[in-house]
Amino acid sequence: ASTLGAAAAGSGRYFGAALSTAHLGEAQYAATADAEFNQTTPENEMKWDTTEPSRGSFNFGPGDQIVSHAQAHNMIVRGHTLVWYQQLPSWVSSISDATTLKSVMDNHITSEMTHYKGKIYAWDVVNEAFADGSSQHRSSVFQNVLGNGFIEEAFRTARTADPAAKLCYNDYNIENWSDAKTQGVYNMVKDFKSRGVPIDCVGFQSHFSSSGPPSSFQTTLSNFAALGVDVQITELDIQQAPAQAYANTVQACLNVARCTGITVWGVTDKYSWRSGDTPLLFDGNYSKKAAYTSVLNALNAA
Ligand code: G3I
Repeated sequence: ASTLGAAAAGSGRYFGAALSTAHLGEAQYAATADAEFNQTTPENEMKWDTTEPSRGSFNFGPGDQIVSHAQAHNMIVRGHTLVWYQQLPSWVSSISDATTLKSVMDNHITSEMTHYKGKIYAWDVVNEAFADGSSQHRSSVFQNVLGNGFIEEAFRTARTADPAAKLCYNDYNIENWSDAKTQGVYNMVKDFKSRGVPIDCVGFQSHFSSSGPPSSFQTTLSNFAALGVDVQITELDIQQAPAQAYANTVQACLNVARCTGITVWGVTDKYSWRSGDTPLLFDGNYSKKAAYTSVLNALNAA
């Protein structure tokens, strides 16, 4: 196949990119995205600061724009994200009462998932809840006010809101098997599976330095998959985009049956969140980079 999405589809997977409404009106941006990808994740449009800027007042306009673009161009959509400590409006982060916060969190999840019912294949229900260099949860209003159980509460609420959507936990720095953070997330998933807490998938963001994925990456993916969840690479970008590092990352996914898809965190270097870096598959002029070719070849060989 001659595009990333079609090549990934050859082994039953998707290959997507984060899209931003800020750039959809740029012809080359849209043309590149539409030609290459069969999945998208809204880069910012479904986050809490956009979707519920004040309590009970919802704005799904930007997210809807991504969804309708995706539907018009045969891309499936990952919902990102329902519960995260960043891009969280201050009216939420200032709540100090557990009863109120639980009701606010559950209402946010239910309202957003209900709005998008049938249009989202998987949700990042909780994003980045674990602390770096540790197996513990990070400090956040959710953790501090609701305690350790907030993640379980979020997943249970999500399952009720849209029983057909896949429910994922998403994080970064969980790609190296021996890291404490990886072990913390692994133990949470294991615990959820053993107690029947609904969880279907784990997203490995995979924001890598120029040295690429850790050598244990495939082991990490397959160990999580063995717990009975699908795994995905959800926000891939690699400092300076070395072709071999990209190929190794994609190959790790292709070698794991339950690794169902890969998303790069942007279309073109010129709009990458890693400003000053060139971590993506297309350069600032939308030319294919060496990393693009190495990824396409790996997908086609699977
Ligand atoms: O919306 C305002 C706009 O009104 C204003 O004019 C502009 C001026 O700077 O800022 C706009 O907001 C920015 C937003 O991106 C949209 O461009 C925020 O300042 C900026 O902080 C925000 O950055 C996003 C970042 O998440 C926030 O943490 C990046 O685009 C986005 O790529 C990044 O994505 C995250 C994932 O969601 C989770 N994993 C890590 C990943 C990279 O940080």
